[in-house]
Amino acid sequence: MKPRVVVDGVSWVGAIDWDRELFDALIPLPEGTTYNAYLVEGSEKTALVDTVDPRTAAELDAFLDGVDTLDYVVANHAEQDHAGQIGAVLDRYPDATLLCTPKCKGLLVDELHIEEARVQAVDDGETVSLGDRTLEFLHMPWVHWPETMTTYLREDNLLFSCDFFGSHLATSDLFVQDERMQYEPTKRYFAEIMMPFRSLIRKHLERLDDYEIDVICPSHGPLYDRPQLVTDWYREWSDESTQNLVLIPWISMHGSTRSMVNHLAGALIDRGVRVAPFDLAVADLGRIATELVDATTVVIATPAMMIGPHPKVAYATFVVNALRPKAKFATVVGSYGWANKVVETLTGMLTAFKPELLEPVLIKGAPREQDLASLDKLADAIAEKHREAGLL
Ligand code: FEO
Repeated sequence: MKPRVVVDGVSWVGAIDWDRELFDALIPLPEGTTYNAYLVEGSEKTALVDTVDPRTAAELDAFLDGVDTLDYVVANHAEQDHAGQIGAVLDRYPDATLLCTPKCKGLLVDELHIEEARVQAVDDGETVSLGDRTLEFLHMPWVHWPETMTTYLREDNLLFSCDFFGSHLATSDLFVQDERMQYEPTKRYFAEIMMPFRSLIRKHLERLDDYEIDVICPSHGPLYDRPQLVTDWYREWSDESTQNLVLIPWISMHGSTRSMVNHLAGALIDRGVRVAPFDLAVADLGRIATELVDATTVVIATPAMMIGPHPKVAYATFVVNALRPKAKFATVVGSYGWANKVVETLTGMLTAFKPELLEPVLIKGAPREQDLASLDKLADAIAEKHREAGLL
């Protein structure tokens, strides 16, 4: 593939990872991903913004075969999917200087053993001239590591935004073509990567209001030549407001908990409440994360295994908690055989967000009439909470 022109003098020189299935050995990538690197050619100097994941090193190498001189490598982020080839690039261009935040410098030295002497730490707002083009570095911590920054190319109004505004979407489109197709991968990425840091994201969005931006060039997925599309999405998702939606991650071994979930979901629908149940035996964690952007209530449903929750429910609860969702209410329902500590175990895991805990419904064996009535009562309580919040 040839370098792809973003604007005259700025090229995409990244890699498309069509068939990657998992990120961080955790996050499913149903649509692959891209690692976006950019070559910026000024009248006097040339800079490479980010590199690629080492698994696609050959693609970047092929692009660099056409680049005789490189003066700067910009590392917006130290994570290996963007920084993993920095060492190889610095070896290839012995006179190039690496530009990054002071925190990023420390991480790159520790993680990738980058030679300190090759690194120039840049301050927030500092600029570097390429001749007729100027790079301005905007420290934007926690999108999504503490060292992250974005790089603004002043004369072209381009923002190299790091993971901020990214999407795991392998596509031949350099720019977003279909807004409806782009919405879900971008929201999923926000949910998985950015949601825990949404208060800082709101501040970063405010700061970017002061910049004229014609193109957002993220580190993953297609570029936005209508930046307001994604900044509006981010404004909506990073807001603390939620919707009339109950997320129900559940699992069932012999059918009792399944019956309870089906009854509760029906009772909620009867009361005008939307539900998103996910069978954790087969569910895609990314879809659960996406629903967490909007859910007001989370109902975790599990049978007792030994006396604790099913391990897959414990795992999902750990992930839900780590994402620090906006949900205001939570509870637990499920079935047990002889004894259980399901409620204590699961609610004890909800430490990163502080939902109001609604009355749980734990039953012995298969549900009887009075158990279904308890679920109806829970549905009443949830509907009332949503009504009080003005969602219903
Ligand atoms: Fe795409 Fe945080 O690396």
